[in-house]
Amino acid sequence: MSPDESEILSELVKYYDALAPYYDAKYSHPTIHHMRTIERQLIDRYLDASIKRVLDLGCGTGLHTVQLAQYGREVVGIDISPEMIRLAQRRVEDAGLSDRVRFVVSEIDNIPSAIGEQFDAAISMFGALNHIPDLSFTLQNVARALRSGAPLIFTVANAERILSRTQSSNGWIQLRVGTRGLRLWTRVWTRRDIETALIDSGYDVVRAGGIFSLIRPVYSGHVVVNRNSPFNRILMWLERRLAWNTRLARRAEYLIFVARRV
Ligand SMILES: C[S@@+](CC[C@H](N)C(=O)[O-])C[C@H]1O[C@@H](n2cnc3c(N)ncnc32)[C@H](O)[C@@H]1O
Repeated sequence: MSPDESEILSELVKYYDALAPYYDAKYSHPTIHHMRTIERQLIDRYLDASIKRVLDLGCGTGLHTVQLAQYGREVVGIDISPEMIRLAQRRVEDAGLSDRVRFVVSEIDNIPSAIGEQFDAAISMFGALNHIPDLSFTLQNVARALRSGAPLIFTVANAERILSRTQSSNGWIQLRVGTRGLRLWTRVWTRRDIETALIDSGYDVVRAGGIFSLIRPVYSGHVVVNRNSPFNRILMWLERRLAWNTRLARRAEYLIFVARRV
C-alpha cells in the first residue's frame, strides 16, 4: 500500500530530523566536496552583485545560506525539518551573520506569506526538490516569490540514473538509505521533464547540466575504494569542465539547472 502525501511529508521530517546531527559529517567526503565546488561556482557565476535577497529552499544545515550571507546577501532559509533549521541557525550565529538571515520551518510548497515576495533569486541544492509531490506546482509557487528576471538554481537527482536501483510506489520512490530504519521518500524527473515543468511554470531555462557522470558520489559508510586517488581527482576536474555537456548529463547522478523567472 502506498502512503499518502501527508504521511510522506511527516516521514520526511522524521528522516531529516534524525539525520540532521550527522548530516555534515556524512557528506564530508571528497566526492561531495566536488559537488559543493560546482554549486559554489554556480552561485558565484549566476548570482551577481545586483542580487540582494535570496531564498534557500530546503536549506538543510545552512551551508549555502551562510555562503550567501557572507557575500552580503539577505537570505531566507526554508526547510521542513526543525532540527535542520536549528543547526543552520547555529551555523549562522557562529559565523556572526544573524542580522542577514531568517529561517522558517515550512514545506517548500507553503512558502509562508510572512517572508514576502520579490526575491532576487532562489536556490535549492542537493536534491531538496526531490521531496515535493508536484514539481510544476512548486515551481509556480516559487515563481510567485521571485521578481521578474530572478535566477533559480537547483541540483536534483536524475531519474535516468536513479530508477534502475529503486522501487517505485505511488510516483514516490523509497530509497534504501534509511537512517535508523526510517524511509526516505523521493521523486525524480528526467532533464526533459524538468525543462518542460520550468517553461510551463514561467521560467526560461538558461542552462542544464550534470554532476557525477564520470565518478560516483561516495557517502561515508559505503566507501569501497579510495575516491580521492589522483585518477579520481582528474575525473572530478574533467567533470567540472564538462558539467554542461548534454550527453554526459544523461549519465549524471544529479542534474544542475539554471533558470530565470520570465
Ligand atoms: C539532501 S538535503 C539538502 C540540504 C541543503 N540544500 C544542502 O545542500 O546541503 C534536503 C533538505 O530538504 C529538506 N526538505 C525535504 N523535503 C522538503 C519539503 N517538502 N519542504 C522543505 N524542505 C524539505 C530536508 O529537510 C533537507 O534538509
